[in-house]
Amino acid sequence: MNSTTYSIPLAIGAIPPYLQFVAFGCVLAVGYNIWWALVSERRLPGFPVATLEGQGLPPKESYFKDASGTIASGLKAYAGPFQIITGTGPKIVLPNKYADELRNRPELDFNEAFRKDFFAHYSGFDGFRASLDNPTLIPSTLRVKLTQSLGLVTNHLVDEATSALHQLYGEDREWQSIAVKQHNLNLVARLSSRVFLGRPICRNEQWLEIAKNHTVDSFLAARDLRAQHFFMRPIMHYFMPHNKNIQRHYTDAKRIISTEVERRKIRAQILLEAGDKPPKVSDAIGWMVEMAGGKKVDYVAAQLSLTVASIHATTEALTIALLDLVSHPEIIPQLRKEIIEVLGDAGWSKQALYKMKLMDSFLKESQRLHPPSDVSMNRKVMRRLTLSDGTVLPKGARLMVAARFRDAEIYPEPDAFDATRFLRLLNNTSSNSPHHYVSTSAEMFAFGTIRCHGKHACPGRFLASAELKIALSHMLLKYDWKLDKSDTMPRFFANETAHMTNPGLKLMVRRRTEEINLDLDVDPDLIDVED
Ligand code: HEM
Ligand SMILES: *[C@@H]1O[C@H](CO)[C@@H](O)[C@H](O)[C@H]1NC(C)=O
Ligand SMILES: *[C@@H]1O[C@H](CO)[C@@H](O)[C@H](O)[C@H]1NC(C)=O
Ligand SMILES: *[C@@H]1O[C@H](CO)[C@@H](O)[C@H](O)[C@H]1NC(C)=O
Ligand SMILES: *[C@@H]1O[C@H](CO)[C@@H](O)[C@H](O)[C@H]1NC(C)=O
Repeated sequence: MNSTTYSIPLAIGAIPPYLQFVAFGCVLAVGYNIWWALVSERRLPGFPVATLEGQGLPPKESYFKDASGTIASGLKAYAGPFQIITGTGPKIVLPNKYADELRNRPELDFNEAFRKDFFAHYSGFDGFRASLDNPTLIPSTLRVKLTQSLGLVTNHLVDEATSALHQLYGEDREWQSIAVKQHNLNLVARLSSRVFLGRPICRNEQWLEIAKNHTVDSFLAARDLRAQHFFMRPIMHYFMPHNKNIQRHYTDAKRIISTEVERRKIRAQILLEAGDKPPKVSDAIGWMVEMAGGKKVDYVAAQLSLTVASIHATTEALTIALLDLVSHPEIIPQLRKEIIEVLGDAGWSKQALYKMKLMDSFLKESQRLHPPSDVSMNRKVMRRLTLSDGTVLPKGARLMVAARFRDAEIYPEPDAFDATRFLRLLNNTSSNSPHHYVSTSAEMFAFGTIRCHGKHACPGRFLASAELKIALSHMLLKYDWKLDKSDTMPRFFANETAHMTNPGLKLMVRRRTEEINLDLDVDPDLIDVED
């Protein structure tokens, strides 16, 4: 009896002190992690838990089976906020009526909402970390610099579209079937990279692969990590394939981008020494340096962050727009007419993009019926917040707000596709109306929140709008499009709260002769003007 009682302490005594210390540390770490998991993943008291109606599934299974359906059930069952149980714990869903009250609340944080789902402290997730470390750099660069340079950017995008289009969609005058999303991804990666990194990187195959893969690999890497036991994550993330991919993307991007920065420095030096002015370069490499004003910034991570925010969202919008065009082919000649009128008059400019009003209304209707998600405004509650109706949002909770894209009160015949819907609404309302493609409102927040100065409304939406209008103008005048009747696969997938088009989606395309010349007749880098 005695011997057993003493054997454990004796055994511990026999272990060298440093090992005792390590063992104690391990026990502490395990204990902390268990405590953390219990605390951070338990349900939020006071909020009803939504599940799919009539299916009797546990909340988390209900969420993974059909997140949109689970949220719709919650909105139907409860008048106020409720919670859903996601893979990383509960999130509060608020009905749309709270959108106005919640925007710009200092208690709520946009970037922190993603910290837990996106492992920003692990290598490879550098882009996510860059947004957390410096949450204003990219949004303010886009708002200030991109807006100032939209005239020049328009020319760059037209030049890039001209050069990329023939290569990507071909010259065949017979109908051929293409996997349209992959082609669009290639096009958007080139357009966006032209604006973010300029020439020649926007045509560098290795960069383009990173630009196209990094978003998907980041999401898969984060998903793999979420599926791992939390205790194993710090070790496993060095070995899991998608995690290794994103770590390699960062290293390769760093090499490509620093070579370009070096090249620019040398070029500027040579010109300065020869007494010439260095050329005006208008892309996000330069803009971010100007915006950072000497502050230390990881520009490679920031570029990856830009890529993640922009390329897939814009590709998705372009793919959905094409799908809507071929599903409602009567719109095609109307859009062609507008493009020819606007561009035939005065050529490309940012004003020309503004004058494409039918295109604008069409894009917004396309987004209304197929938004990237039924919820937006993902936020984390940084300090306890009491709302006007007495609802208390506890510190640490994550939330999202439901949109009203198909609400008959706002949009008569909400399920019908009506390309002129927003054009008519625009016609009947005073200026500053929320019916432009780039405007956001409490109900219609595919780009995030709110018409006026919603702090986190997508700062890239002006670029997205320019890219889409320029790409569609080229694609409509230079190509005919129709449905591929042999393609019977589902057109859309839902994954958690995100909706996306089927990557295998096929459309028929053939080259046609454009009525007017769409190409710039000069190299835009030689036009040193801003309008
Ligand atoms: C059609 C394409 C796009 C859609 C549907 C879209 C949608 C969104 C949404 C819903 C948000 C979150 C807003 C919120 O929660 O309040 C967002 C944020 C953001 N978007 Fe976009 N976006 C698109 C294109 C772009 C592009 C082209 C860029 C880059 C040039 C971009 C850069 C960003 C950035 C940096 C943020 C974070 C804003 C912040 O931190 O305050 N987006 N976007
Ligand atoms: C990008 O993804 C494709 C397809 O999965 C793969 O073949 C390619 O090696 C990837 N490239 C990079 C740079 O990750
Ligand atoms: C907009 O209003 C003008 C005049 O008020 C009219 O000529 C035009 O047809 C209207 N457009 C639409 C789409 O209703
Ligand atoms: C806009 O006004 C016109 C008359 O000017 C009317 O026919 C039309 O129904 C109105 N549209 C909407 C969406 O209110
Ligand atoms: C969601 O995406 C993951 C990874 O791509 C996939 O394994 C899963 O089956 C998808 N879920 C649904 C419902 O499509």
